[in-house]
Amino acid sequence: MILTVTMNPSIDIAYQMKNFSLDQVNRAEETHKTPGGKGLNVTRVLYATGEEVTATGLTGGKNGEFLQEQLNKAGIDSSFYKIKGDTRNCIAILHEGKQTEILEQGPIISKKEFQGFTHFFQKKVKKYDAVVFSGSLPGGIPDTCYADLITIASKENIPVILDCSGSALKKALEARPTAIKPNIDELKDLLHQEIAKDPKVLKEVLSSDMFTGIPWIIISLGADGCFAKHDDHYYHVHIPKIEVVSPVGSGDSTVAGIASGIVNGLSDEELLKHANTLGMLNAQEKETGTVNMNHYDDLYRQITITKV
Ligand SMILES: Nc1ncnc2c1ncn2[C@@H]1O[C@H](COP(=O)(O)OP(=O)(O)OP(=O)(O)O)[C@@H](O)[C@H]1O
Ligand SMILES: [Mg+2]
Repeated sequence: MILTVTMNPSIDIAYQMKNFSLDQVNRAEETHKTPGGKGLNVTRVLYATGEEVTATGLTGGKNGEFLQEQLNKAGIDSSFYKIKGDTRNCIAILHEGKQTEILEQGPIISKKEFQGFTHFFQKKVKKYDAVVFSGSLPGGIPDTCYADLITIASKENIPVILDCSGSALKKALEARPTAIKPNIDELKDLLHQEIAKDPKVLKEVLSSDMFTGIPWIIISLGADGCFAKHDDHYYHVHIPKIEVVSPVGSGDSTVAGIASGIVNGLSDEELLKHANTLGMLNAQEKETGTVNMNHYDDLYRQITITKV
Protein backbone atom coordinates (compact mmCIF):
# COMPACT_ATOMS: atom_id res chain seq x y z
CA MET A 1 0.00 0.00 0.00
CA ILE A 2 1.32 3.42 -0.98
CA LEU A 3 0.63 6.75 0.71
CA THR A 4 0.86 9.88 -1.44
CA VAL A 5 1.27 13.30 0.18
CA THR A 6 0.09 16.52 -1.48
CA MET A 7 0.72 19.51 0.77
CA ASN A 8 -0.78 22.13 -1.56
CA PRO A 9 -3.50 20.45 -3.65
CA SER A 10 -5.85 22.40 -5.88
CA ILE A 11 -9.05 22.31 -7.80
CA ASP A 12 -7.86 22.53 -11.38
CA ILE A 13 -10.34 24.47 -13.45
CA ALA A 14 -10.05 24.31 -17.24
CA TYR A 15 -11.99 26.89 -19.27
CA GLN A 16 -12.22 26.05 -22.95
CA MET A 17 -12.83 29.11 -25.16
CA LYS A 18 -12.46 30.01 -28.83
CA ASN A 19 -10.72 33.33 -28.23
CA PHE A 20 -9.28 35.00 -25.19
CA SER A 21 -9.10 38.79 -25.15
CA LEU A 22 -7.45 40.87 -22.47
CA ASP A 23 -9.55 43.60 -20.87
CA GLN A 24 -12.76 42.07 -22.29
CA VAL A 25 -15.52 39.78 -21.04
CA ASN A 26 -14.59 36.21 -22.03
CA ARG A 27 -17.15 33.39 -21.90
CA ALA A 28 -16.10 29.79 -21.39
CA GLU A 29 -17.65 27.24 -23.75
CA GLU A 30 -16.79 24.37 -21.44
CA THR A 31 -15.66 24.12 -17.83
CA HIS A 32 -13.91 21.12 -16.22
CA LYS A 33 -13.03 20.88 -12.54
CA THR A 34 -10.70 18.16 -11.30
CA PRO A 35 -8.62 17.48 -8.18
CA GLY A 36 -5.13 18.80 -8.91
CA GLY A 37 -1.64 18.83 -7.47
CA LYS A 38 1.31 16.63 -8.37
CA GLY A 39 0.64 14.08 -5.61
CA LEU A 40 -2.88 13.58 -6.91
CA ASN A 41 -1.53 12.87 -10.40
CA VAL A 42 0.71 10.23 -8.85
CA THR A 43 -2.31 8.84 -6.98
CA ARG A 44 -4.46 8.56 -10.10
CA VAL A 45 -1.73 6.77 -12.03
CA LEU A 46 -1.06 4.34 -9.16
CA TYR A 47 -4.80 3.63 -8.99
CA ALA A 48 -4.95 3.08 -12.77
CA THR A 49 -2.15 0.51 -12.53
CA GLY A 50 -4.04 -1.41 -9.86
CA GLU A 51 -1.88 -0.35 -6.92
CA GLU A 52 -3.50 0.15 -3.51
CA VAL A 53 -3.06 3.84 -2.73
CA THR A 54 -4.27 6.47 -0.25
CA ALA A 55 -3.97 10.21 -0.87
CA THR A 56 -3.23 12.48 2.06
CA GLY A 57 -2.12 16.09 2.56
CA LEU A 58 -3.89 19.30 3.57
CA THR A 59 -7.38 20.36 2.46
CA GLY A 60 -9.78 23.05 3.62
CA GLY A 61 -13.08 24.80 2.90
CA LYS A 62 -15.63 23.97 0.21
CA ASN A 63 -12.88 23.30 -2.33
CA GLY A 64 -11.37 20.77 0.05
CA GLU A 65 -14.75 19.03 0.33
CA PHE A 66 -15.18 19.05 -3.45
CA LEU A 67 -11.72 17.56 -3.90
CA GLN A 68 -12.49 14.72 -1.54
CA GLU A 69 -15.90 14.08 -3.14
CA GLN A 70 -14.29 13.84 -6.58
CA LEU A 71 -11.71 11.33 -5.35
CA ASN A 72 -14.50 9.30 -3.69
CA LYS A 73 -16.45 9.28 -6.94
CA ALA A 74 -13.39 7.97 -8.75
CA GLY A 75 -13.07 5.21 -6.14
CA ILE A 76 -9.77 6.59 -4.81
CA ASP A 77 -9.09 6.29 -1.09
CA SER A 78 -8.15 9.55 0.64
CA SER A 79 -7.56 10.81 4.13
CA PHE A 80 -6.69 14.50 4.31
CA TYR A 81 -5.85 16.65 7.32
CA LYS A 82 -8.33 19.53 7.57
CA ILE A 83 -7.02 23.09 7.66
CA LYS A 84 -8.82 26.40 8.19
CA GLY A 85 -7.92 28.00 4.85
CA ASP A 86 -9.50 27.16 1.51
CA THR A 87 -7.85 24.72 -0.88
CA ARG A 88 -6.76 26.80 -3.89
CA ASN A 89 -8.01 26.99 -7.45
CA CYS A 90 -5.63 26.70 -10.39
CA ILE A 91 -7.15 28.00 -13.60
CA ALA A 92 -6.11 27.02 -17.11
CA ILE A 93 -7.65 28.96 -20.00
CA LEU A 94 -7.44 26.89 -23.18
CA HIS A 95 -7.71 29.15 -26.21
CA GLU A 96 -6.48 29.12 -29.80
CA GLY A 97 -4.20 26.13 -29.10
CA LYS A 98 -2.63 28.02 -26.19
CA GLN A 99 -2.86 27.61 -22.44
CA THR A 100 -2.92 30.65 -20.15
CA GLU A 101 -2.71 29.72 -16.47
CA ILE A 102 -3.61 31.53 -13.26
CA LEU A 103 -2.39 29.70 -10.17
CA GLU A 104 -3.59 30.77 -6.74
CA GLN A 105 -0.96 30.66 -4.05
CA GLY A 106 -3.14 28.64 -1.70
CA PRO A 107 -3.84 28.94 2.02
CA ILE A 108 -1.22 29.95 4.57
CA ILE A 109 -0.73 27.10 7.01
CA SER A 110 -0.39 27.95 10.71
CA LYS A 111 2.34 26.46 12.87
CA LYS A 112 -0.31 24.59 14.84
CA GLU A 113 -1.80 23.10 11.68
CA PHE A 114 1.61 21.95 10.47
CA GLN A 115 2.33 20.34 13.84
CA GLY A 116 -1.11 18.72 13.71
CA PHE A 117 -0.41 17.31 10.26
CA THR A 118 2.99 16.01 11.37
CA HIS A 119 1.35 14.01 14.19
CA PHE A 120 -1.39 12.80 11.85
CA PHE A 121 1.24 11.66 9.33
CA GLN A 122 3.35 9.98 12.01
CA LYS A 123 0.40 7.80 13.06
CA LYS A 124 -0.83 7.13 9.56
CA VAL A 125 2.37 6.26 7.75
CA LYS A 126 3.05 3.11 9.81
CA LYS A 127 0.65 0.93 7.85
CA TYR A 128 2.04 1.78 4.40
CA ASP A 129 4.80 0.12 2.36
CA ALA A 130 6.02 3.39 0.79
CA VAL A 131 5.36 7.14 0.86
CA VAL A 132 5.46 9.57 -2.07
CA PHE A 133 5.93 13.32 -1.47
CA SER A 134 5.20 15.51 -4.48
CA GLY A 135 5.04 19.17 -5.30
CA SER A 136 5.57 22.55 -3.74
CA LEU A 137 4.82 23.56 -0.18
CA PRO A 138 2.08 26.03 0.77
CA GLY A 139 2.90 29.27 2.60
CA GLY A 140 3.63 29.01 6.30
CA ILE A 141 5.31 25.62 6.00
CA PRO A 142 9.09 25.58 6.50
CA ASP A 143 11.23 24.29 3.64
CA THR A 144 12.50 21.60 6.01
CA CYS A 145 9.00 20.03 5.89
CA TYR A 146 9.88 17.13 3.59
CA ALA A 147 13.14 16.50 5.45
CA ASP A 148 11.17 16.19 8.73
CA LEU A 149 8.50 13.92 7.23
CA ILE A 150 11.15 11.74 5.52
CA THR A 151 12.90 11.30 8.88
CA ILE A 152 9.61 10.10 10.43
CA ALA A 153 9.04 7.56 7.62
CA SER A 154 12.66 6.38 7.69
CA LYS A 155 12.44 5.64 11.42
CA GLU A 156 9.65 3.20 10.52
CA ASN A 157 11.79 1.77 7.68
CA ILE A 158 9.30 2.96 5.07
CA PRO A 159 10.80 3.84 1.68
CA VAL A 160 10.26 7.43 0.54
CA ILE A 161 9.99 8.69 -3.04
CA LEU A 162 10.39 12.46 -3.31
CA ASP A 163 9.55 14.76 -6.22
CA CYS A 164 10.00 18.44 -5.45
CA SER A 165 12.38 21.24 -6.35
CA GLY A 166 14.24 24.28 -5.01
CA SER A 167 15.10 24.64 -1.34
CA ALA A 168 12.58 21.96 -0.23
CA LEU A 169 14.54 19.42 -2.32
CA LYS A 170 17.93 20.66 -1.15
CA LYS A 171 16.93 20.38 2.51
CA ALA A 172 15.25 17.00 1.98
CA LEU A 173 18.41 15.43 0.51
CA GLU A 174 19.97 15.58 3.96
CA ALA A 175 17.21 13.27 5.25
CA ARG A 176 18.20 10.66 2.61
CA PRO A 177 14.99 9.70 0.80
CA THR A 178 14.99 6.32 -0.98
CA ALA A 179 14.39 7.87 -4.40
CA ILE A 180 14.31 11.31 -6.00
CA LYS A 181 13.20 12.17 -9.54
CA PRO A 182 14.24 15.66 -10.55
CA ASN A 183 13.98 16.51 -14.23
CA ILE A 184 17.13 17.90 -15.86
CA ASP A 185 16.15 21.53 -15.17
CA GLU A 186 15.52 20.81 -11.50
CA LEU A 187 18.93 19.10 -11.32
CA LYS A 188 20.63 22.16 -12.88
CA ASP A 189 18.81 24.38 -10.42
CA LEU A 190 19.89 22.20 -7.49
CA LEU A 191 23.55 22.24 -8.49
CA HIS A 192 23.60 25.80 -9.88
CA GLN A 193 25.34 24.64 -13.05
CA GLU A 194 24.67 23.81 -16.68
CA ILE A 195 24.45 20.04 -17.22
CA ALA A 196 24.50 18.38 -20.64
CA LYS A 197 22.15 15.45 -21.29
CA ASP A 198 25.24 13.31 -21.74
CA PRO A 199 25.55 9.99 -19.88
CA LYS A 200 29.20 10.58 -18.94
CA VAL A 201 28.43 14.05 -17.59
CA LEU A 202 25.36 12.79 -15.72
CA LYS A 203 27.31 9.91 -14.19
CA GLU A 204 29.91 12.33 -12.90
CA VAL A 205 27.26 14.71 -11.53
CA LEU A 206 25.35 11.95 -9.73
CA SER A 207 28.56 10.72 -8.10
CA SER A 208 28.66 13.96 -6.12
CA ASP A 209 28.75 13.72 -2.31
CA MET A 210 25.46 15.58 -2.22
CA PHE A 211 23.69 12.37 -3.26
CA THR A 212 25.56 9.91 -1.06
CA GLY A 213 23.13 7.66 0.82
CA ILE A 214 20.23 8.21 -1.58
CA PRO A 215 19.77 4.80 -3.25
CA TRP A 216 17.78 5.84 -6.33
CA ILE A 217 18.38 9.04 -8.30
CA ILE A 218 16.37 9.21 -11.49
CA ILE A 219 16.87 12.22 -13.75
CA SER A 220 14.01 12.44 -16.23
CA LEU A 221 14.90 13.83 -19.64
CA GLY A 222 11.46 14.29 -21.26
CA ALA A 223 11.43 12.82 -24.79
CA ASP A 224 15.02 11.57 -24.21
CA GLY A 225 14.00 9.07 -21.52
CA CYS A 226 16.02 9.19 -18.32
CA PHE A 227 19.36 8.65 -16.63
CA ALA A 228 19.38 6.75 -13.35
CA LYS A 229 21.66 5.76 -10.53
CA HIS A 230 20.83 2.89 -8.16
CA ASP A 231 23.50 2.42 -5.51
CA ASP A 232 26.68 1.99 -7.61
CA HIS A 233 24.91 1.19 -10.88
CA TYR A 234 24.22 3.74 -13.59
CA TYR A 235 21.64 3.34 -16.37
CA HIS A 236 20.75 5.26 -19.50
CA VAL A 237 17.14 4.56 -20.49
CA HIS A 238 16.27 5.00 -24.17
CA ILE A 239 12.62 5.40 -25.10
CA PRO A 240 10.92 5.25 -28.51
CA LYS A 241 9.67 8.33 -30.32
CA ILE A 242 5.96 8.67 -29.67
CA GLU A 243 3.13 11.00 -30.60
CA VAL A 244 2.72 13.40 -27.72
CA VAL A 245 -0.56 15.06 -26.74
CA SER A 246 0.47 16.64 -23.41
CA PRO A 247 3.59 15.76 -21.41
CA VAL A 248 2.39 17.69 -18.33
CA GLY A 249 2.33 15.23 -15.43
CA SER A 250 4.60 12.69 -17.16
CA GLY A 251 7.10 13.14 -14.35
CA ASP A 252 4.35 12.43 -11.82
CA SER A 253 3.46 9.26 -13.74
CA THR A 254 7.13 8.24 -13.68
CA VAL A 255 7.14 8.80 -9.92
CA ALA A 256 4.11 6.50 -9.60
CA GLY A 257 6.08 3.84 -11.49
CA ILE A 258 9.13 4.25 -9.25
CA ALA A 259 6.98 3.87 -6.13
CA SER A 260 5.24 0.72 -7.35
CA GLY A 261 8.56 -0.68 -8.59
CA ILE A 262 10.06 -0.26 -5.13
CA VAL A 263 7.02 -1.70 -3.33
CA ASN A 264 6.84 -4.72 -5.65
CA GLY A 265 10.58 -5.44 -5.54
CA LEU A 266 11.13 -5.04 -9.30
CA SER A 267 14.65 -5.41 -10.68
CA ASP A 268 16.42 -2.17 -11.65
CA GLU A 269 15.67 -2.65 -15.34
CA GLU A 270 12.03 -3.58 -14.73
CA LEU A 271 11.50 -0.56 -12.46
CA LEU A 272 13.03 1.84 -14.99
CA LYS A 273 11.01 0.41 -17.88
CA HIS A 274 7.80 0.49 -15.83
CA ALA A 275 8.37 4.10 -14.74
CA ASN A 276 9.23 5.35 -18.24
CA THR A 277 6.30 3.51 -19.80
CA LEU A 278 3.92 5.30 -17.44
CA GLY A 279 5.58 8.65 -18.24
CA MET A 280 5.11 8.02 -21.96
CA LEU A 281 1.53 6.83 -21.53
CA ASN A 282 0.69 10.08 -19.75
CA ALA A 283 2.32 12.09 -22.56
CA GLN A 284 -0.10 10.42 -24.99
CA GLU A 285 -3.17 11.71 -23.11
CA LYS A 286 -4.81 15.12 -22.94
CA GLU A 287 -5.59 14.93 -19.22
CA THR A 288 -2.81 15.22 -16.66
CA GLY A 289 -2.14 12.10 -14.60
CA THR A 290 -3.96 9.77 -16.97
CA VAL A 291 -2.60 6.57 -18.53
CA ASN A 292 -4.24 4.20 -20.99
CA MET A 293 -2.94 0.81 -19.87
CA ASN A 294 -4.03 -0.82 -23.17
CA HIS A 295 -0.90 0.66 -24.77
CA TYR A 296 1.41 -0.36 -21.90
CA ASP A 297 2.96 -3.54 -23.35
CA ASP A 298 3.63 -1.98 -26.74
CA LEU A 299 5.64 0.91 -25.24
CA TYR A 300 7.33 -1.19 -22.55
CA ARG A 301 8.93 -3.57 -25.02
CA GLN A 302 10.39 -0.70 -27.09
CA ILE A 303 12.47 0.65 -24.18
CA THR A 304 16.15 -0.26 -24.05
CA ILE A 305 18.62 0.31 -21.24
CA THR A 306 22.38 0.64 -21.39
CA LYS A 307 24.61 0.36 -18.33
CA VAL A 308 27.00 3.29 -18.07
N1 LIG B 1 7.76 14.23 -25.16
C1 LIG B 1 7.88 13.02 -24.61
N2 LIG B 1 7.96 11.92 -25.41
C2 LIG B 1 8.10 10.69 -24.87
N3 LIG B 1 8.14 10.45 -23.55
C3 LIG B 1 8.06 11.48 -22.71
C4 LIG B 1 7.93 12.82 -23.19
N4 LIG B 1 7.87 13.65 -22.13
C5 LIG B 1 7.98 12.86 -21.04
N5 LIG B 1 8.10 11.56 -21.37
C6 LIG B 1 8.28 10.40 -20.47
O1 LIG B 1 7.93 10.80 -19.14
C7 LIG B 1 9.10 10.84 -18.29
C8 LIG B 1 9.05 12.06 -17.37
O2 LIG B 1 8.93 13.22 -18.13
P1 LIG B 1 9.61 14.64 -17.81
O3 LIG B 1 11.09 14.51 -17.81
O4 LIG B 1 8.99 15.60 -18.77
O5 LIG B 1 9.10 14.90 -16.32
P2 LIG B 1 8.75 16.27 -15.55
O6 LIG B 1 9.44 17.42 -16.22
O7 LIG B 1 9.04 16.04 -14.13
O8 LIG B 1 7.16 16.38 -15.77
P3 LIG B 1 6.01 16.92 -14.77
O9 LIG B 1 6.66 17.62 -13.62
O10 LIG B 1 5.15 17.79 -15.63
O11 LIG B 1 5.23 15.73 -14.32
C9 LIG B 1 10.29 10.83 -19.24
O12 LIG B 1 11.43 10.27 -18.60
C10 LIG B 1 9.74 9.98 -20.39
O13 LIG B 1 9.79 8.60 -20.06
MG1 LIG C 1 8.24 17.01 -12.46
